[in-house]
Order: sequence, then C-alpha cells, then structure tokens
Amino acid sequence: MKSINLFFTLTTILSLIISLSTTPTQAQQSSSARPAPPRLSPSFYARTCPRAATIIRNSITRAVSREKRMAASLIRLHFHDCFVQGCDASVLLDETASIQSEKTALPNNNSARGFDVIEAAKREVERICPGVVSCADILTLAARDASVAVSTIYN
Ligand SMILES: *[C@@H]1O[C@H](CO)[C@@H](O)[C@H](O)[C@H]1NC(C)=O
Repeated sequence: MKSINLFFTLTTILSLIISLSTTPTQAQQSSSARPAPPRLSPSFYARTCPRAATIIRNSITRAVSREKRMAASLIRLHFHDCFVQGCDASVLLDETASIQSEKTALPNNNSARGFDVIEAAKREVERICPGVVSCADILTLAARDASVAVSTIYN
C-alpha cells in the first residue's frame, strides 16, 4: 500500500514537472508568427521537374532488373542515410582529408552499396532539370521504386 502511494506521489510530481517545463514552450510557439512547417508532398516536383519521378523510376527499375539484390541495397542505403541526423543524402558524400564521411564510417564502409545506381539516376534527372531535384529525394524515391520493382519484376 505504501509503495502504491509512493508511486502515485512520484507520478503526480513527475507530471507536474513535465507540464511546467513544456507549458512555456507551447505558449512561445503559439504566440510567435512562425510560418507553417513544411509539408511532405508527393507532387513537390510536379511543376519544377514533372518528369523526375518517371525518370528515377525507370532508372531504378533498370538497375533492379540487372541485379535483384540491388533492391535491398537501395532500401538499406536510404535507411542508413537517415543516420546520422536525418535523411539528407549525407551518406552519398565522399570522404575528404579533413572530414570523415558517413559513406566510410564503420557501419557503411565496404557494406553500403548502390551509390553508382543513385548517381546514374541523379545524372539522368540533372540532364533535364539541372539543380532542381535533391539527392535526398532521389535516394528516397529510389528506395520506394526499388521495392516496387523487385516485387513486380521477380514475381
Ligand atoms: C574503410 O575501408 C577501406 C578499404 O577497405 C579502409 O582502407 C579504411 O580504413 C576503412 N575506413 C574505416 C573508417 O574503417
């Protein structure tokens, strides 16, 4: 009985601390005139590069047709890109003399693959819409298209 009372007391104190520490933040957010947070949209490139999605899909489909395993590799590459600090295509960056890249970090070194496939898709997109479609988006679409391709080509 005593331990149950202690549990409720601690829970009450804890929720009080949490509500006190979060209330000012929420008040600040609602009173400031911040723009609405950006929203993800599947039609983001509909006007700026309408053929991007098709070009990427065709490029990824060709790569998965050549090698079934590439589908898994591209999905994994996207997953690993989301470490460290978000899905920002940082896994694609090469190492420099002063910066250790995610590409050659221990979990990825000699194990992450499919860079050439992403680069080929990026090259094709760059030909028609230079500087429009981000590497991060290509990596994300590649993972999606690879999963579709492997299930349609090999079924
Ligand atoms: C990554 O692999 C290369 C080639 O095998 C090796 O020379 C390098 O030391 C490795 N880097 C790390 C951080 O393990």
